[in-house]
Amino acid sequence: MSDTLSLRRPDDWHLHLRDGAMLAGVAPESARHFARALIMPNLVPPVVTAAEAGAYRDRIMAALPAGSDFTPLMTLYLTEESSAEDILAAHGSGLIAAVKLYPAGATTNSASGVRDFDKVREVLEAMAEAAVPLCVHGEVTDPEIDIFDREAVFIERVLDPIRRATPGLRVVMEHVTTSDAVDYVKTAGAGLAATITTHHLVINRNHLLVGGMRPHYYCLPVAKRESHRLALRAAATSGDARFFLGTDSAPHPVDAKESACGCAGCFTAPHTLSILAEIFEAEGALDRLEGFTSLNGAAFYRVAPNRGHITMRKGDPVAWPARIETGDGPVTLFDPGFDLHWRVEA
Ligand code: DOR
Ligand code: ZN
Repeated sequence: MSDTLSLRRPDDWHLHLRDGAMLAGVAPESARHFARALIMPNLVPPVVTAAEAGAYRDRIMAALPAGSDFTPLMTLYLTEESSAEDILAAHGSGLIAAVKLYPAGATTNSASGVRDFDKVREVLEAMAEAAVPLCVHGEVTDPEIDIFDREAVFIERVLDPIRRATPGLRVVMEHVTTSDAVDYVKTAGAGLAATITTHHLVINRNHLLVGGMRPHYYCLPVAKRESHRLALRAAATSGDARFFLGTDSAPHPVDAKESACGCAGCFTAPHTLSILAEIFEAEGALDRLEGFTSLNGAAFYRVAPNRGHITMRKGDPVAWPARIETGDGPVTLFDPGFDLHWRVEA
């Protein structure tokens, strides 16, 4: 088998770049390999209006190393007060690519998210009409629901009713973690897709909890049992265009992760492509990697694939740093637990 791989320049359809000193530290890590990324709006305060998204985009551009060829695709954070007019104008002008729905309390900086889904009904209808994609963090926040069941219950209680009530709404289920979500995407009609992260293809809940608690494997949605991980791997490597890469690379300073109440998030941006190549090779699906990283997402978002290619070459184990330094402190890289052999050539 060939030891080189040529891929259209990839896109990351779910990325946390943060702001300030952290942004400056992590933006180059994505810009090195990716041509575009969909930027999550869960800053403090969140990116709610078009004006805020424009200002955030400018800060991202300013944080990129000189000569970077990287386009941040912006999103707006949906609140119960969001204005359909503002959203449609921002999408119409090309400023934003999507709107992100966080159920209030579901994850990092989601307090301003949606509590009562009826309150966003009109906005969702306007988005359906104008074909503005809705990216969904699909977990219920009901304290009665076990954390491992929150994605499956969300589909039944929230997502499916919203999609039925809003025909034509284009939805991306973000960072799916269960076979329930994979099955839902496969059986739903057009207009539904899902991102899959790198880390959820690697870890199950045993990695998180057996032999000691591993805070750097803690993310949301939390990793599930092995049968779910296998369903994600099958979906990602199947060639089904409804599944594509959204790394959910989510940096936190190491002391915020290794804490009595550690933050959720795995930082995978620097070595995501090496990890994915290893996984796709193990599944006998290297020929489908490009669809997952570079074609399927672009098709869903109705943008052309990137021009240009990257080359990956297989060789001796790739050295990657345990952490990178940022102005906000060191950030630990996700440890896949196996050697990586594929490197992106400069
Ligand atoms: O693990 C996660 N980290 N999941 C999310 O949904 C948010 C993210 C973050 O912003 O840290
Ligand atoms: Zn995320």
